[in-house]
Amino acid sequence: MTVGEAAGCLALLVTSSSAVDGFGFVPETGNCAYRIAMAGAAVLLACVVAVCCTLASGAGLSSTSVCGGIFAPTFNRAVPAYTGFIKPTSTFQFADSSCQRVPIQGPNVWGWLELAAGVQANPPGVADGIPAGCDGITYVMSRMVQDGQPVARVRFHGASSDFAVEQSPGVYNEAALKALDYIVYRAGQYGVKLLAVLADNWQKADSTYNYAMWATGTNQTDSFFANPTAIGLYQNHIKQIITRTNTITGVKYSEDPAIFAWDLINEPRSTQGSACLQACSQAISTWGINQAAFVRTLDANHPITVGTEGFWGVGSPYKQYNPSYSTGSLWSSTTGQDFDTQFLSANLFASYHYWPDLWGDVSTTFETNWIAQHDADAKTLGKALVLSEFGKQYNNTISPTDAARTAARQEIYDQIFKVYGPAYSTDNTLQGVMFWRFANTPVNSGGDANEVAGLDALYTKTIAPAYLAILKASGTATGCTKSG
Ligand SMILES: *[C@@H]1O[C@H](CO)[C@@H](O)[C@H](O)[C@H]1NC(C)=O
Ligand SMILES: *[C@@H]1O[C@H](CO)[C@@H](O)[C@H](O)[C@H]1NC(C)=O
Repeated sequence: MTVGEAAGCLALLVTSSSAVDGFGFVPETGNCAYRIAMAGAAVLLACVVAVCCTLASGAGLSSTSVCGGIFAPTFNRAVPAYTGFIKPTSTFQFADSSCQRVPIQGPNVWGWLELAAGVQANPPGVADGIPAGCDGITYVMSRMVQDGQPVARVRFHGASSDFAVEQSPGVYNEAALKALDYIVYRAGQYGVKLLAVLADNWQKADSTYNYAMWATGTNQTDSFFANPTAIGLYQNHIKQIITRTNTITGVKYSEDPAIFAWDLINEPRSTQGSACLQACSQAISTWGINQAAFVRTLDANHPITVGTEGFWGVGSPYKQYNPSYSTGSLWSSTTGQDFDTQFLSANLFASYHYWPDLWGDVSTTFETNWIAQHDADAKTLGKALVLSEFGKQYNNTISPTDAARTAARQEIYDQIFKVYGPAYSTDNTLQGVMFWRFANTPVNSGGDANEVAGLDALYTKTIAPAYLAILKASGTATGCTKSG
């Protein structure tokens, strides 16, 4: 790097650190920050603006990393620096090792694995306009810690079939693994916690589909939950991830407090339809309980959940609260899920999702009961509960400039925060809600109508203030014993 280049980079850092939407985000342009940080004398120069001090004091970037974007440490942090691991307390709250209560709130994010690996500027599902590459990750992390969101739900599985972490049994995509290292490393730097999703039911990457195909040669995904070969393949895989030593930080994932918890799989479902009654529900429940026990043999530190949608099985007294049940539809009762039996293990905390549009029930009755009844049921079960994914579509037939476009969505978010706030501050079980999903500009026609544009009114006027208020009122956890 020449003196001229260094000066140019520095100028860019100085101007951009204050210019971008008041959040002090430093774009990665030309990998400038990275090149400065790596360039001997220029390190001192850049530290004058206290930018690369973050890098200098951190573990440093891998020389092969495509990621150079950093965040100038000038923002107002709302999320405190938690100590140690976050765990459920005996009164169904979550707390760090000093018994500081932690609300499990923040965004779902999508495609970070691909962003960190630099395989595409905008992998499927990532909104146009989010800073390109790794900057999209650090940007969201910086917003989270300012806006009261300690936890992001992150896919540790591929978002598309051409970027699976495990490409065939035992064969790993090194770039994907390094990308995970980067995400965990940055989360540690920013003090963001990751709810790490280990597999998925919907993609053809690190999914029910892949393990079923490898184990049985057919795409009958129910074998994922029952076939011993499929279960063995899944366990080999999650062992690779959970016991991995991060190539950037040198810390094993199982020992890294940047990870909040393991989510064994996103939205596991049976494909048997009406043939899937209570016995079939039990198969998925048993699978989750057994896999949680397996994870516990590898990792004594992190909480574990199963990313089910939270449908009640046909034998549950709560089944009347399933989507469309009131209109006689049993589809959601026959997905193989059963909230009542899914989490019956001391290793698991409870979680569920909420998708009124995708589930075809936007009735007020369903919407009201879905949140309230999971809270009531989790309390009966004696479980900490997290709404780990919820989303509401905007009406994309209405002009982006018309407030009616997002009216129904606003109503759902208002309703969720109206229940979550009081539930969190009393002795109920609901310990967090996680929205779908953070992006930083309105999506174009090819985007995801459920996502939240980071700078829109919903985010700035509803989500961020609600999260901040809950975070600030969190205080000390009950039922907690200090461990550090
Ligand atoms: C599963 O296999 C069947 C039969 O080959 C095929 O019709 C179906 O589309 C496949 N499903 C998926 C999700 O690939
Ligand atoms: C979207 O808005 C249009 C125009 O107001 C309306 O006719 C339609 O029912 C709305 N769709 C949904 C899903 O609310």
